[in-house]
Amino acid sequence: MHVGVVTLFPELIAAFGATSLIGRAIETKLVTLHVEDLRPHGIGRYKSVDDSPYGGGSGMVLRVDCVVAALEAAETALAAPLRPLRILLTPQGQPYTQRTAEKMRDHGAFLLACGRYEGFDDRVREFIDWEVSIGDFVMAGGEVAAMAIIESVARLVPGVLGNSESPQVESFSVGNRGLLEFPQFTRPQEFRGREVPEVLRQGHHAEVSRWRAEQALQRTRERRPDLLAAGTAPADAAPRPAQHSRPSEPPASR
Ligand code: ADE
Repeated sequence: MHVGVVTLFPELIAAFGATSLIGRAIETKLVTLHVEDLRPHGIGRYKSVDDSPYGGGSGMVLRVDCVVAALEAAETALAAPLRPLRILLTPQGQPYTQRTAEKMRDHGAFLLACGRYEGFDDRVREFIDWEVSIGDFVMAGGEVAAMAIIESVARLVPGVLGNSESPQVESFSVGNRGLLEFPQFTRPQEFRGREVPEVLRQGHHAEVSRWRAEQALQRTRERRPDLLAAGTAPADAAPRPAQHSRPSEPPASR
């Protein structure tokens, strides 16, 4: 998987790329990460990448020429076998979900543009494929969103996690039909009077599967009824046996 990030804080993304799951995925060449510093694409002696808004108002706006130059440089440097999806990270974007992560994994290459200040010159939106938000809250910039997205997509790449089965039956996944995951238990069998459910100790595979399917549905009803109402998880859903998820169509191209 090929990933590029355009940012004013390259050291933040580089440190993330050198750590843990992503660090290993890069080392084993399952993931390529290119970090494009926005600053050298700035204007003049001070390499300014922002300016005050036309029409007045407080705050600074990221310049379209600098952002597009950085995106183009990142695309060239990434040298992905296919054109990477250009994704703008802002609180105004489409909500990021596990489905989004699966689509991005399936596409195989993407560039994430992180904002700072009051936002981007609106014309940037004509040079990207997709605008994504990781939630209805506003951060100082897109870097934390970029890291959340990279980690959630990278762990879906076969081989990145030790057990390639595990992402298929977890919360929100297609393999779990968009439901929350069923409860898990390990030793000890009893802790301060709390027993592991009997059915899990009997070794009856069909019974265990049925119990887990019921629990996943019950948990989703109790905690996230919106997932059932949204139609991502059918009301009678039961987790399917592990299988590779088929993507629906990728986001619209520019
Ligand atoms: N940048 C600032 N806030 C953001 C959010 N909620 N999602 C994505 N990018 C952001």
